[in-house]
Amino acid sequence: MLNHGGRIHAYAKQYGIATNDWLDLSTGINPNGWPVPGQIPAKIWARLPENEDDLIVRAKTYYQCEHILPVAGSQAAIQLLPTLRTACRVAILSPAYEEHCHCWQQAGHEVVALESVELEQQINQFDVVIVINPNNPSGETFSTERLLNWHRLLLSRNGWLIVDEAFIDVTAQKSLASFPVQPGLIILRSLGKFFGLAGLRVGFVIAHPDMLSLLNEKMGPWSIASVSRWVAAQALADRHWQQQLCQLLPQSAARLTQLLTDYQLRPTGGCALFQWVKTNQAPHIHHQLAEQGILCRLFDNPVALRFGLPASESDWLRLEKALQQVITK
Ligand SMILES: Cc1ncc(COP(=O)(O)O)c(C=O)c1O
Repeated sequence: MLNHGGRIHAYAKQYGIATNDWLDLSTGINPNGWPVPGQIPAKIWARLPENEDDLIVRAKTYYQCEHILPVAGSQAAIQLLPTLRTACRVAILSPAYEEHCHCWQQAGHEVVALESVELEQQINQFDVVIVINPNNPSGETFSTERLLNWHRLLLSRNGWLIVDEAFIDVTAQKSLASFPVQPGLIILRSLGKFFGLAGLRVGFVIAHPDMLSLLNEKMGPWSIASVSRWVAAQALADRHWQQQLCQLLPQSAARLTQLLTDYQLRPTGGCALFQWVKTNQAPHIHHQLAEQGILCRLFDNPVALRFGLPASESDWLRLEKALQQVITK
C-alpha cells in the first residue's frame, strides 16, 4: 500500500500530539467543503442505491457532458482501468499521484514515469498515457489542444489517454469533460477535492459509452452508497456555493503562495487547492512543522513539500507562527 496525505493518526502517535490538535495541510482537500445537511432522510439508509436517482442527471449538468459513470471515488476507476487492457506500455507524468503508476504496475503493465516534455517526445512508444491536469503535486497544467493532440496520436494505435482532472473544478474551462466523447479518451473527476467530500467516496468517469459499460460491469451493482449518492447529487446542483468557492479558493491560494514566499518557501507550482515547494530542506521543515502539530506532505523524489489550504483565520495564524519558528531555528 502507498502512503498518502491525511494520515493524522500515525503522526499523532509518532509526535505524541493528540489527533484533534493537528492542523492537517497534508492533502489537497478543500478544508471548507460543501456543507452537508445535518439531517439525512432516514429512508435513504434503508434503500439500495438506484441508478435512476438524481445523481447522473445532476452530474451531466455540472460536468456538461452526455456520457458519465459514477464510481466510488475516482480511485475506484484508477484501480479498474489497468484491468481492461492486456499487458502494454504506459507512460505517466512525473511526479504524480502515485496510485496510477502503482495500479498499472500491479496489473502487469510496464510503466515509465516521464516529465511532460519527455513524455511528449516519446509518446509514440506508449499504448496508454496518464496525465493529471492540473498535476498533483507539481501543479503543471496542460492545454486542451495539447491533450487532444496526444489523444489523436494514441488513438491511431488503439491507445488511451487518461486525464485525471481531480483538481480542475476551479478552472473548469480547461477541462475536457464537455468535449464530445471519443474512444480512448478517459476523463476522471472527483468530489473529494473542490467539494471537500473525500469521505463520501464519489467520483466520475467521462468516456465513450463502450468504456463506461466495461467499467460498470467490473464494478457490479451498488458500489456507491445511497447516502453518498444523495449528498453528491445535492452538492453538484448547488451552483451558488460552487460560484462562491470558485472565487474564494483562488484568493486563498494566492494568500498561501504569499505566506510561503514570505518565509523563503516560494512555491514552484500549485493550483487552487495546494502549493508545491521544491526545497532540499523539505525533510527538516516537515519535521519542524510536525513538532508544532502542523502536517504538510513530504515528497522524496523530487524532494519537496506540498501545503494544502488552512481552513480559518486561526489556522492561517498558526501556520504563520510555525513558519516563523522554522525560519528562526
Ligand atoms: C490526482 C488524484 N486523482 C485521484 C485521486 C483519488 O481521489 P478520490 O478517489 O477521492 O476521487 C487523488 C487523491 O488524492 C488524487 O490526488
